[in-house]
Amino acid sequence: MARPAAPSLRERLRVVDAWDKAQARTLYAADWQMPGMLHAAVARSPYPSARIRQIDTSRARALPGVAAVLLAQDVPHNTLWTDVPGQTSEVGPLRARIQVLAHEVVRFQGEPVALVAAETREIALQAAELIEVQYDPQPGVFDPEAALAAGAHQVHEGGNLLARLAVRRGDPDRALAQADVVIESVNRCQFIDHAYLEPEAGVAWIESDGVLTIRVSTQVIEHYRDVAEVLGLPQNRVRVIGTYLGGGFGGKEDVTVEVFLGLLAWRTRRPVKMIWSRQESLLARPKRHPFILRYRTGAARDGRLVAQAVDLLADSGAYAYLSALVLMYATVTAAGPYRVPHVAVDARVAYTNNPPTSAMRGFGAMQMVLGYESQMDQLARRLAIDPVELRARNALAKGDELPIGQPLDTHVAVIEAARRAWEALGPRRAPSTPAHRIGRGLACNIQPYGRIVWLHDWASAWVGFEMDGSLVVRTGTPDVGGGQAASLCQIAAEVLGLDPGRISIHIADSALTPLAGTTTATRQLYMSGNAVLRACEGLRRQIVDVAAQMLETHAHTVALAAGDAVTQDGRRVSLPKILRECARLGVSRSHLAVYHAPAGDPVDLERGGGRVFPDFTFGAHAVEVEVDTETGAVTVLRHVACHDVGRAINPQSVEGQIQGGAVMGLGYGLMEEVVLDHGVNLSTLFATYLIPTSLDVPDVEPIIIESGEGKGPFGARGIGEPPIAPPAAAVANAVDDAVGVRITELPVTPERVARALGLLGEG
Ligand code: MOS
Repeated sequence: MARPAAPSLRERLRVVDAWDKAQARTLYAADWQMPGMLHAAVARSPYPSARIRQIDTSRARALPGVAAVLLAQDVPHNTLWTDVPGQTSEVGPLRARIQVLAHEVVRFQGEPVALVAAETREIALQAAELIEVQYDPQPGVFDPEAALAAGAHQVHEGGNLLARLAVRRGDPDRALAQADVVIESVNRCQFIDHAYLEPEAGVAWIESDGVLTIRVSTQVIEHYRDVAEVLGLPQNRVRVIGTYLGGGFGGKEDVTVEVFLGLLAWRTRRPVKMIWSRQESLLARPKRHPFILRYRTGAARDGRLVAQAVDLLADSGAYAYLSALVLMYATVTAAGPYRVPHVAVDARVAYTNNPPTSAMRGFGAMQMVLGYESQMDQLARRLAIDPVELRARNALAKGDELPIGQPLDTHVAVIEAARRAWEALGPRRAPSTPAHRIGRGLACNIQPYGRIVWLHDWASAWVGFEMDGSLVVRTGTPDVGGGQAASLCQIAAEVLGLDPGRISIHIADSALTPLAGTTTATRQLYMSGNAVLRACEGLRRQIVDVAAQMLETHAHTVALAAGDAVTQDGRRVSLPKILRECARLGVSRSHLAVYHAPAGDPVDLERGGGRVFPDFTFGAHAVEVEVDTETGAVTVLRHVACHDVGRAINPQSVEGQIQGGAVMGLGYGLMEEVVLDHGVNLSTLFATYLIPTSLDVPDVEPIIIESGEGKGPFGARGIGEPPIAPPAAAVANAVDDAVGVRITELPVTPERVARALGLLGEG
């Protein structure tokens, strides 16, 4: 049957939550109020490495208005697992332990030691200060190389090497020895913070049915299971309701306030609110992994890559969180979107007493771009080959295998993306003064979307008609501001021939909406999108069958359009009439569907072991910068960002993701850095942790490629993470083009450029 003309796909629809946000009507997690509500605070370690000798809470407890003070021994199960079920040790400890409250030892500055609930936030904060902890400061280790050296301070029992991965393909040593040219580089990238405008926040209460209910800003409502585990409750006694987020970017992928809130609400039997201050959020939340990226790339004189040897070392900080998985993403994508016949990747991640690191947009694949795209740029310069041409000669294509052995079975858009981004820069601008130089840089990237296949990912969704023909969608999907809910409405509108205005969507309630998994890993359009697609297709079949009987024709000749069922010869029956007939016949007016991602076995990297991710997406960014040769300041004048999204369900949302990601990537490339001095965080305010403002970045020009070959609904691919990855490398390449110096350490600050230009002397 021919589909009705698409009523909604590719329309630039306003996302459902945008108007409320623009008018400041959205109730974020921190805005929620409950009668009789307490306010909570966390007491944190001032030391990055210390033993706890004694804790005296008597003064805190004696403060009028304090309702509860909790220490590690008050937590029923003081262990939080970063849970990757069924994982073996071959890729490191993917089941990593985190203590809820510090017990005996603190391993990073800001580690939670005690919780307080009180009548006001001020009293709670005051009480937290009155908790007297006697610490014995210990030596720590603050650098991953030092952490792996003999005799290093042990952050955890069992050594500081958290995980190690290795890939071998072909004979890279021999191929490197025989290559016409070999490029070698060491790049370093820094700790950064998610720096969302909305810090971590939530409210917990016990419902009249006795269910512990937590309304929280989170990417993962399934953390209700973690709360249940820590409190020793059955999982069905904990409910998490997700809110619209003021930013997540991976920082609300791990547990934040929900376990603390659960503990305090359970103890006091009263509603409790917890909001972390900006300082707390910047101090103590997991960061992006810094990496040391050592690359050696061999090529033939015509620019074809023959071999690559990559050594990666990442800093996990004090706890494992998702470090082993981040290392997996880095390892799988280390050679970039290029065909390299002989590859060796050795990747390690080490514990230190720095702040913990975990998920952040790009998740290990992002950091690699600086490594492989610096190499490509240096190779292009060495061989005097045009940067686009060099990439075109080496780009992966559909049917190729990644070094890990995974075949690429959908379109690979690298060449098109590189060409279009580069061409869109237009004519080169003239420098604004004789002291300025103009330069251009290109960076391509590969990023998976969807979770690692052996995690057996799934998502579910329910759709149902009301009697008037309006539609309700229920799905557990958290909307982190990327237009997730709106895109699901568009998919439903498309399949059921409805005006999107006739659809209501309920999301992110672990008790009332069918679970849809995490809003992470660029997976929601792919996973929840496919679940909603299936649910709508199931519902459509039910409705059309009944309509066909009413119209006395065959179901395959009936279409749903504009709220009616329509035959090919133009006869119609309205949805309300069909729904009444469904009720009479006992045909369901709703449909629940579960989408299971294709399964796979744990990968064997050493032997080139098969599928790790469902699919990948490809993109390219081109920038034009101006460098001030007197100050080292870099200004990005133009930025074009081109990505294959398979199919743009809502181009407005896609462009928003591309522009937002690119700006975030420029922040990483140019200014953002969590500055640490022996584990002490020196950048816990936006006065010291600099993020780009509208004055720091140009209008990013998005270019959307629609290859139609994604594994999401209607051939869509994810776009949440990919656009953050290329900008830093593109900027470093452009600076080299402008002034002939290569910056190998992020961010590309004026100081670093000035030093490289010899303006500051040594040191
Ligand atoms: Mo993420 S970095 O939210 O998978």
